[in-house]
Parts: sequence; structure tokens; C-alpha cells
Amino acid sequence: MSVIELPAPERAVAETREIFERVENVIPRIEWPLHAPYVAAINALKKERNAVILAHNYQVPEIFYTVADIVGDSLALAMKAKQTTADTIVLCGVHFMAETAKLVNPEKTVLVPDLRAGCSLAESITAADVALLRERYPGTPVVSYVNTSAEVKAESDVCVTSGNAVEIVEALRVPRVIFLPDEYLAKYVASKTDVQIVAWKGHCEVHERFSGRDVARFRDGDPSLIVLAHPECPPDVLAEADFVGSTHGMTEYVGTLASEQRAPRVLMLTECSMADNVAGRYRNVQFVRPCNLCPHMKRNTLPKVLHSLQAMEYEVTIAPGVAERARLAVERMLDYSTRLRD
Ligand code: 13P
Ligand code: SF4
Repeated sequence: MSVIELPAPERAVAETREIFERVENVIPRIEWPLHAPYVAAINALKKERNAVILAHNYQVPEIFYTVADIVGDSLALAMKAKQTTADTIVLCGVHFMAETAKLVNPEKTVLVPDLRAGCSLAESITAADVALLRERYPGTPVVSYVNTSAEVKAESDVCVTSGNAVEIVEALRVPRVIFLPDEYLAKYVASKTDVQIVAWKGHCEVHERFSGRDVARFRDGDPSLIVLAHPECPPDVLAEADFVGSTHGMTEYVGTLASEQRAPRVLMLTECSMADNVAGRYRNVQFVRPCNLCPHMKRNTLPKVLHSLQAMEYEVTIAPGVAERARLAVERMLDYSTRLRD
């Protein structure tokens, strides 16, 4: 095992001065000496291993802005995982994201810092449930949100993310689809298309906690507040929002506001770290911060990322019989996304 000694905090702080500038408005200066030795060691070890770190938009700023090479929403991570020439991918996100990276990179080593980083949506449905749905609705295509296990993807016709779900459902040109597992995303898609949607009852444990009443409370007395929501939120929340979109869509939307208004006030109804990460990029935006943490995303920490690269743990593997079929569903999504974008 390649062991990299942690540099002394003063040396690490000096070495990482430019990196700190990226996060100085979201990480207090007094905390940086705690992070800097890990940031320096991880960046050194990444080179030695020819590894890349992919981080989802919900990762803490000290991972997102300082050690990650590629950041984005689930769709961007899947697309960019496919393009990397590195030997090893460390996926800072949750398990289904690492499985997706492995599916499109079967020959590469894909590591996660903590194997327990799951997802309430992925856990809400099994491959056997999908088989039962197929029996009940014969001939109806199964469209699976990427927030599913590889086993569920293997039983699906095509995957989608929140960034391309409506377009892909329409592109299938069928009257009805089984859309799983997120009930609220399914309802959102149904509101945007004439395709009949058969939904499952999965929920995201983070987004289901927001309510339309919360939004009304935040708006009360703050009429200029701009409300953005992820489509995993309940329908009464989406009805109150000014913009509904994936984590990438929300970031872009804030970018537009930041260029058009002097100091927009924004409420983002999604995971807590999103506002920190977007604030790092658009510094004139004021965020109103209700904080719902995803406990799975938060399992990733800088010490665990360092351990992952040192010990080459924890490797994500997928049984070959499952991987072949699951890969087809993911590749179909990536093909649709490329075609729909062009
Ligand atoms: P995005 O694809 O929008 O990044 O969402 C992933 C996710 O897990 C949201 O909870
Ligand atoms: Fe899953 Fe929700 Fe966490 Fe996203 S925020 S990873 S959907 S539990």
C-alpha cells in the first residue's frame, strides 16, 4: 500500500493557498488548517495512482472544490465517467452513482470512500418488483431513474436522470411507460407529457421533507425570493417553485440570475451542500438556507477519500450477468441524451 504522510498543517496551508481561494466564502479560514493536509495528500496521491475524483453536486465544499476533478449532476457524472482516461475513479456521491460509473467503465477500478452511502430511492425497489410490474403491464417499457441498483437497471429498458426524464419518456414514442422508483419525479414527468405514467411509491428521504407550506412561509415577507426545487420534492412544493430542475439545471438557473440581478435572493429546495457549492461559484447570490442533509452523501469525508486512494478501497463490483443488461439501459440513456442535445 502506498502511504502518503500527511504534511504539517502550516506547510499544507501554504501549498494549498490557491485552492483555498476557491472556497474562502464557504469555508471559514480558521477551519482550513484541518482540511489542507488532506487536500495536499489526496491531490498528490491522485497523480501517483492516475486516478480521478468525481463528485456529485451534494458533496461538501471541501471535497467539491478542492480535490474533485469532475463535478456535476448524475447525468454529467455518468457521461464524464465514460470519457475519462484515468485507471481509477473515486466516486464521491452515493453507491448507485459509482455503479453507473463502473457500468460504463467495466475495465477501470471504481472506488467509493464509504460503501454504506446508499439512497432511499434505490432501496425502495428490487429487481423482483420490476418483474411483477412487467407482468402486470405487459409490453409497457420500464424507465428507471438512475437512482436504482444495477439489478433494477438490468430489468429496465432505459435509464433517465432528473435532467433528461421528460425528453427520454417522450422520445420513446409509446402511449404508456412504467416509471420508477420516484413517485414525485414520476408525477412531475406526467405533468409535462401526454404519455401515461405508471409510478412506483419510492421517495427521497431528503426532498420529501419539504412542503408547500414551508415555501409559503419563506416567501412571506420576502416577495423577491426566487424558489428553485428539485423534482424529487412533493408536488405541492413544485407548484410553488419558480424553477424546477436537476442539480445541474438549478446551478445554471442561478448563474443566469447572478448575471442579470445585482444580489438575487434564492431558496434552493434540495440537499444542503448545493447552496454552499453554488455560492462558491456565484458570489453575489444570497441564499436562504433551509438545511436538509442527505446522510448518505455526507458519509464521504476528506480522510475517507484519502483512505480510499491509499488502500484502493472500497471497490465497486457488479455481477457480469447483471452488468451486461444494466449497461444497456444506461448506454441507451446516454445515446438519447447525446442525440437530444445535438
Ligand atoms: P441530480 O441528478 O439532479 O444531480 O440528482 C441526484 C440526486 O440524488 C438528487 O437527490
Ligand atoms: Fe438518494 Fe435523496 Fe440522497 Fe439523492 S438526496 S442520494 S435521492 S437519498
